[in-house]
Amino acid sequence: MFSERVLSGMRPTGLLHLGHYHGVLKNWVQLQNEMPCLFFVADWHALTTHYESPEVIEASVWDMVVDWLAAGVDPEKATVFIQSRVPAHAELHLLLSMSTPLGWLERVPTYKDQQEKLKEKDLATYGFLGYPLLQAADILIYRATQVPVGEDQIPHVEMTREIARRFNNMYGREPGFEEKAIESAKKLGGKNAKLFMELRKSFQETGDVSAIDKGREILAGAGSLGAADKDRLFSYLEGGRKLILSEPKAMLTAASKMPGLDGQKMSKSYQNTISLRETPDNIAQKIKKMPTDPQRVRRTDPGNPDKCPVWQLHEVYTDEKTKAWVQEGCRSAGIGCLQCKDPIIESIVTELSPMRERAKPFEEDPTLVRKIVAQGCEKARAMAEDTMKEVRGVMGLNYK
Ligand code: TRP
Ligand code: SF4
Repeated sequence: MFSERVLSGMRPTGLLHLGHYHGVLKNWVQLQNEMPCLFFVADWHALTTHYESPEVIEASVWDMVVDWLAAGVDPEKATVFIQSRVPAHAELHLLLSMSTPLGWLERVPTYKDQQEKLKEKDLATYGFLGYPLLQAADILIYRATQVPVGEDQIPHVEMTREIARRFNNMYGREPGFEEKAIESAKKLGGKNAKLFMELRKSFQETGDVSAIDKGREILAGAGSLGAADKDRLFSYLEGGRKLILSEPKAMLTAASKMPGLDGQKMSKSYQNTISLRETPDNIAQKIKKMPTDPQRVRRTDPGNPDKCPVWQLHEVYTDEKTKAWVQEGCRSAGIGCLQCKDPIIESIVTELSPMRERAKPFEEDPTLVRKIVAQGCEKARAMAEDTMKEVRGVMGLNYK
């Protein structure tokens, strides 16, 4: 049992747009108010597919962090850092690789899918095969309990759970664990210690889950117990193993329904995006250029919103009253397409203007974002080091 902690990463491969905001960042901003969060730039992950064009990554890293801050990620609440500045991720990746069966990696769906999809790139590489294991190291090194990801990333989190389980099974058999746990339990005090041991026994013998919950309650309320004793007893309660790595849960982020300027999903590869720091003029221009119902050639032709990408944006951005006005006006040729687009322009400008405001100081003084990231990296390194000390220890690497 580890306390709740959220971790998520994003690859720096270009400008962020409304799709990222609605699909990911809005969720991050919400989560940072609910529990401790770590958000990081997955630059090494980007290199697995962009090893021939690292300049793309270099150019996106800082802008991406500025976009996060603009969207409302708050460095006072969340730890923001860059993967490659916490080299322990690579160390854990290497150590986990020793015992990770090749088949587990080959079976991850993104491995073959991405090779098919990105045909122009040679992804038959060692690094790309290891992509999900590097991701597992990202997650496990912070003992993250929750990982907000999109659907395609669920298998990666599942594999991470298997990796953690296997690691704990292999290395969690600390000599003398049982004796140490009993010593720790004594610190709970006579009555609670006895109750705790009974609850454990009850769970071991009957599988009674409510016994575990009660046991956890005792531990949570035990002020006299240090963190190491607590961790040990949480593991002891559930079994005999020491839990070195914790199994994370995937937190499925609903797929962004953010439509692009052409009615397809908003995506850099379709060139149909509105970026998060787009100026009001550009926003207006882009929306005004959007194609509409192809049947509506003249102003006097009635149209059908179901056949029009502009309508999809109304579904995201405007209220019921406006939507009714569009339905009526479009089908009766009562409104023109430019008129129809106005409320969307207004909504997007309103949504993005606080972001442009928040981004301004960072654009004017590039050292600000560097400082935030430096602090985040420092915090992350300290957390990662805690885990690594234990991992190195159980893998027999703490030579004296
Ligand atoms: N693979 C993720 C993506 O493509 C990015 C990522 C890397 C990540 N490491 C992670 C996400 C750890 C969550 C947790 O979106
Ligand atoms: Fe599309 Fe609006 Fe024009 Fe109808 S009026 S075709 S919904 S832009």
